[in-house]
Amino acid sequence: MIVSLTVNGEPRTAEVAGFESLLWVLRERLDLRGAKDACLQGECGSCSVVLDGDLVCSCLVLAADAEGAEVTTVEGLGDATSPHPVQSAFVAHGAAQCGYCTPGLVVALAHLRENRPDASPDDVREALAGNLCRCTGYGAILRAAAEVLGRGDPGAGPVGDPDGTRSQGDGEVTP
Ligand code: FES
Ligand code: FES
Repeated sequence: MIVSLTVNGEPRTAEVAGFESLLWVLRERLDLRGAKDACLQGECGSCSVVLDGDLVCSCLVLAADAEGAEVTTVEGLGDATSPHPVQSAFVAHGAAQCGYCTPGLVVALAHLRENRPDASPDDVREALAGNLCRCTGYGAILRAAAEVLGRGDPGAGPVGDPDGTRSQGDGEVTP
């Protein structure tokens, strides 16, 4: 079947099979490889895109169900010459991790900034709880998030742990 959708503001069409995910079609049919195929089970957030205003794991969305939708991928946020504020903050704070986890983190934070500019540090942690990186303590990422949300303080506690009762990362342990 042919699916028509708007990707990063441009009308796109692709021939898809009924079982193919939006992630697969973005990467393999539309040559947009920013969203990554890591777990393919909705666990890691590396495939995060915005679909009709909602942050989704594109590995869990059937491409056929995206007919007529508006999709924003990390490529649509900015580039090296005109970066999105989240991308600039990642650079400034050394928050970029690997190419698998970083695009999803950037998309998730950009979505949060657009939809909840008043997000608290705890809200940021909750928003990023679905974006996994086993390699970082998230400290630099939270500092970048605090900057783009206009907060000076990233707050205490790790992602997904608003109470701050577990290791914060960056070698720090919160009470
Ligand atoms: S690849 Fe989609 S959530 Fe991990
Ligand atoms: S998964 Fe990307 S640096 Fe850890």
